[in-house]
Amino acid sequence: MKKETQHKREGFSSSIGVIAAVLGSAVGLGNIWKFPYVTGANGGAAFILVYLICVALVGLPVMLSEHLIGRHTKANAVGAFKALQPRRPWFLVGGAGVLSAFLIMAFYTSVAGWVYAYIFKAAGGALLTAKPEDTTLVFNKLVSGVGEPLFWQVFVLLVTGSIIMAGVTKGIERVTKLLMPLLFLLLVIIDIRSLTLSGAGAGLSFLFKPDFSKITVSVILAALGLAFFKLSVGMGTMITYGSYVDKNENLPKMAIKVALADTLVSLMAGIAVFPAVFAFGFTPDQGPKLLFVIIPAVFNSMPFGRVFMVLFFVLTAIAATGAMLSLLEVPIAFLTEQYQWTRRKATLLTILGIGLLGSTATLSNSIFATVTVFGKTFFDFYDFATSNVLLPLGGIFIALFVGWQWGYVKVKQELSNQGQLANDGLARVYLFLVKYIVPIAIAVVLFTGLK
Ligand code: TRP
Repeated sequence: MKKETQHKREGFSSSIGVIAAVLGSAVGLGNIWKFPYVTGANGGAAFILVYLICVALVGLPVMLSEHLIGRHTKANAVGAFKALQPRRPWFLVGGAGVLSAFLIMAFYTSVAGWVYAYIFKAAGGALLTAKPEDTTLVFNKLVSGVGEPLFWQVFVLLVTGSIIMAGVTKGIERVTKLLMPLLFLLLVIIDIRSLTLSGAGAGLSFLFKPDFSKITVSVILAALGLAFFKLSVGMGTMITYGSYVDKNENLPKMAIKVALADTLVSLMAGIAVFPAVFAFGFTPDQGPKLLFVIIPAVFNSMPFGRVFMVLFFVLTAIAATGAMLSLLEVPIAFLTEQYQWTRRKATLLTILGIGLLGSTATLSNSIFATVTVFGKTFFDFYDFATSNVLLPLGGIFIALFVGWQWGYVKVKQELSNQGQLANDGLARVYLFLVKYIVPIAIAVVLFTGLK
């Protein structure tokens, strides 16, 4: 522990700043892009129900665990485990997290690139059509290109890299604090429009009337994977962010607030998308293009649609960027603290690595369209391997670590801010979850779902 904590660490400067940053990590393309399309592909309401259970019983405890580990050790994902268990291989959990950050960023920057590109397409009028068939053409043309999507991916990496280089409090906190409320407001506006389209009711039933026959093991695995991806847990992001959090912060309260707010944003994105999907005569299982073909059509059926559409993609780009900052922060904190690299060197080499790996994801619809790994394109493989395998695996080990290795008394101390918070009951529930429910539930779902 000594070595990692020697140099001065920055931290988030206020309580509201902490929530904003943690929420800024959680809210991103996961809510706006992934939640609707995965819900659409997995049958709607029943999937959402399973998802909510995964968030409450698995995602939330893992998030809290990461915050506890991070705040206690004040170290990066690898250093934190080394500090607590210097002679055991737990640090490999953090190491796997650093790897996951690269794999997630590989496809995340690709999708973020589409979003950035859509800001300009929306502004330039290329998306001024209420017909989903036409918006599909625009989307297909973008993603099956080579130079254009690569350009945007590089652009995304440069933007995110520059913010990261500016440092933790200055960069991350400032950007995210301002913009979450604005995104929320805009979602309210789109929801209203989507709900008032004629034929919107079918979309609402799709979202809220569960058909339990739709639940299969692979649906459950998808819900579990989405919960991890959504809450940014299972790979040390929340350890890293937790390490910037003040000793007096009420961590359980914060985790609950973040999970609730994040889920609300996802549901609102669902309400923006699905009524429109049905109103425009589309099917919900469009896959990753769902958001990009439906949302422009919604905007074009409202007054000032073009202005709102630009605003929507700007805010989505910002939300995606806040999430990417937290993903990047994992390898950067690791490299600067474990290897004493400068922040600048760590950032530049990390985004270079992500750019190289990420180009294979971006070109999955063109040059590499026929190249597959385990039957999936690079893009789909990075996505599946992280959300549905690596993050849940990380979750098992993080839960086992807190539940069985760290020590009951120490965990309770950190959880209660050294006894200042009276949360004994909560501690008992939490420890029961991380000892038994979380590892067993994940193991069962992973084992059966992957077969
Ligand atoms: N939660 C973010 C989203 O929904 C993505 C993300 C950020 C993430 N950091 C993460 C996912 C760490 C997994 C792990 O867009």
